[in-house]
This record gives sequence, C-alpha cells and structure tokens, in this order.
Amino acid sequence: MPDQKINILAIESSCDDTAAAVLCNGKILSNIVATQAVHQQYGGVVPELASRAHQQNIVPVIHQALAKANIDKKDVSAIAFTRGPGLMGSLLVGTSFAKSLAMGLDIPLIEVNHMQAHILAHFIEEDGFDKPEFPFLAMTISGGHTQIVKVSDYFEMEVIGETMDDAVGEAFDKSAKILGLPYPGGPLIDKYAKEGDPKAFKFPKPKVDGLNFSFSGFKTAVLYFVQRETKKDPDFIEKNLKDICASIQYTIIGILVDKLKKAVKETGINQVAIGGGVSANSGIRQALRDAETKWGWKCFIPKFEYTTDNAAMIGIAGYHKFLKEDFADFSVTAQSRYKI
Ligand code: KG4
Ligand code: ZN
Repeated sequence: MPDQKINILAIESSCDDTAAAVLCNGKILSNIVATQAVHQQYGGVVPELASRAHQQNIVPVIHQALAKANIDKKDVSAIAFTRGPGLMGSLLVGTSFAKSLAMGLDIPLIEVNHMQAHILAHFIEEDGFDKPEFPFLAMTISGGHTQIVKVSDYFEMEVIGETMDDAVGEAFDKSAKILGLPYPGGPLIDKYAKEGDPKAFKFPKPKVDGLNFSFSGFKTAVLYFVQRETKKDPDFIEKNLKDICASIQYTIIGILVDKLKKAVKETGINQVAIGGGVSANSGIRQALRDAETKWGWKCFIPKFEYTTDNAAMIGIAGYHKFLKEDFADFSVTAQSRYKI
C-alpha cells in the first residue's frame, strides 16, 4: 500500500449506464450510476439515445461522485475511463470527457478494458469479501458478453471460452420478451423463478465444443415451446409463468455450470469468480455456493452493486494500472471491439 493517497476518478459509459466513482488507495469513496430509463420502451438499448443520455448525465454524475467522496478535483491523482468494448457513441462520450478533464487538470489518464474491469471488481477493498489469488478462473456473464477467462495476474488474462452468438443476458432478456415481460427481463425471470418448479418444463441444452457457449438456439426453443403451448391454451403463459421462468433459469444455469466444471477440470484451477449483470442472478449465485460444498471450489461472488455496469470496477482497474505507472497517451481513442 503506497504512503501517499492515490485518488482515482473513474468513468464508465460503455453501454446504457453513465457511471462515475472515486477510489482512495483501492477503497471506494463513492460509486454513482445513472441508469438510462429511455430504452425500456424500445425493448433494448438504442445506441443513439444512449450517447445522448450519456452527454446529459456525465457532468452531474461526476459532480455527484466527487461531492459524495468529499474530494476536490485538485486532489484527483488520475482519471481512469472505459476505452472499450462497448457502443462506439457511448464510449466516445466517456473517453472524450476523461481526456479533456485529465488534460485540464494536468494529471495522468488511464485507459481500462471493460471486460478486465468486471473481473478486477473482485479486488475492491470490501469488509467481509475475500480477494481471489492468482491464478483463478473468471466467468463474465452480461447482456453483451459470456466468457470464461483464465486470470494469471491483474492484467494477464486469457479468454478460454466464449459465446459463439448471443450472450447469456440476451438469452434471459429475449426469453422474457417472448413471455411478454418488459426489458431487461433477466431480473424478472429471476424473481418469478424463485416461486416456480425448475423441472416443470424441459429445454434443450446446446452442444458446443470445448469451453464455448451458444445461446441463439435456446431462445428459439423457448419461442417454439411458447407458440406450441399457447396454441393449445391461450392462457398458458399466465397460468405457468413461474414454472416457465424457473425452468428457463435452471437450464441456463446448467449450461453455465457445465462449462465451468469443464474449465476447472481442464485447467486444474478451482478458484472461480463471476462478474457482469447476470452474476446478480440468485440461481447462479446459489449454484456457486453449492459448488464450494459439493466440489471444494473456492468461489467469489460480487456484491450486487459491482455486478452490473459501474465505475468502481473501472476505478480498481485504474488503481492497479496507476501503481504500475501504466498511463495512456492523450491520443488514445475509444475501441468498440477491444480484446482482453
Ligand atoms: O453487465 P450489464 O449491466 O450490462 C452489459 O454489459 O450487458 O448486464 C445486463 C444484463 C441484462 O441482460 C440483464 O437482464 C441481466 O444482466 N441481469 C440478470 C439479472 N440482473 C441483471 N439476468 C438474470 N438474473 C438477474 N437477476
Ligand atoms: Zn458490463
């Protein structure tokens, strides 16, 4: 731990959340997120509307983060921002703002890979939360990504499995849409699943080689199933919503856990961390807790506020880059595709 106080101001704007956080020596002082409600009526994120909302939100969100942390901008040591991956228009807002502010304050600029940040969120100083030791496996599951990553050091990561098509969050959200639930449907499926029978209906699991995933066939299976059943009984969804949700969730979690088991077997690493929006799901959280007792894994389940997109995770990644003096040039640009 350094003697001096290292205050990182972090900015996240890769998708539809405008977020800012302030960290002092790896501890969160503030973590502000403005979620954009505008997309709900369209059933998904509309990129152009997301960029405009980021432009409106970014100044108040940063002000709020600094005020809550009780830090003056003069005392900020460096600015960390999400360079990618994400929506180009959204990334541009955060990137341009971070560059201008760092330039104006004459302090270092730190670029952060959003997918690395989801994993590094496990290194935020939090009472009651252990940090993983290297090497460990991280499964990042969100609306945009599904990856299993071998993490050898803070910035030494290798993707060992990923989705060939839809992300797991899309499997949740698209299934929810078929059931007539609003966007994003993942949390609603989770809610109804709690009171349903996970074995009421059977959905097929895709057969994909190695540690990769595929979810596009799953949503089609849900669609055909619902079409077939509602033809027989128009009130089928209404009568069986909880059981359908529980069965969908059970199948999706089965797919994720099967691949994790395979990854643990192949790598010999049994420390497993999860991250990304879908790691808020109560079923996957319970499955990992069960894995600790059943198979002796050591699992790392993030606090809820660090599962969906946030700037605290960008800040912790930025802090570890600051310690290595890994600073970005002011010519740095946003990258919508940005590999780990
Ligand atoms: O990480 P995130 O906020 O944004 C992306 O980078 O995509 O993840 C959002 C995704 C959405 O698909 C949402 O439905 C899903 O995470 N999600 C959940 C739950 N909470 C959020 N899926 C299932 N169960 C939940 N409790
Ligand atoms: Zn994310």
